[in-house]
Amino acid sequence: MMALEKDADAAAHWPQGQYEQIFLRAGHPSRLALVIGEDAAVQGFLVARQIDAEFEIENVVVAGSVRRRGLGTRLVGELLRLAHSQGAKAVFLEVRESNRGARALYEKCGFTEIGHRKRYYQDPEEAAVLYRLDLA
Ligand SMILES: CC(C)(COP(=O)(O)OP(=O)(O)OC[C@H]1O[C@@H](n2cnc3c(N)ncnc32)[C@H](O)[C@@H]1OP(=O)(O)O)[C@@H](O)C(=O)NCCC(=O)NCCS
Repeated sequence: MMALEKDADAAAHWPQGQYEQIFLRAGHPSRLALVIGEDAAVQGFLVARQIDAEFEIENVVVAGSVRRRGLGTRLVGELLRLAHSQGAKAVFLEVRESNRGARALYEKCGFTEIGHRKRYYQDPEEAAVLYRLDLA
């Protein structure tokens, strides 16, 4: 997962410890990872966390060699199914304004733009676009 993330400039970049926490029994209790793998190689993953009756998608990455084959859609779709089955009311996320590909993916999955946050990201500085999808 870390190798994929490092290869994707537009992904959220986390330290190793934060990934390890997802898989520790005593780790962050409300964070989950969905992983698509083939022949022991991770081809894509999504990390999200539950905050009361909402889920936040924190990162989605698909390997460069297998993009535009529907894996991102599968990951987001699976998270929406999971959130719905757990009674969540909504899923939200934020993404770099310039990340056209990811924004197109989220909009195709039914997310609606609900706002902007100026200078939200650093290195390089950029606004965030906030998206939300109501499950009710
Ligand atoms: C964003 C990302 C996860 C999409 O994964 P993917 O597996 O290629 O997505 P899909 O194949 O399911 O694409 C679904 C739709 O999203 C849109 N889309 C995806 N990538 C796109 C791109 N580069 N440009 C324009 N539209 C794009 C298209 O509408 C696409 O449907 P289509 O192929 O029928 O036209 C992938 O490009 C990626 O890992 N990017 C780097 C990391 C990143 O930016 N993560 C999101 C921010 S946290």
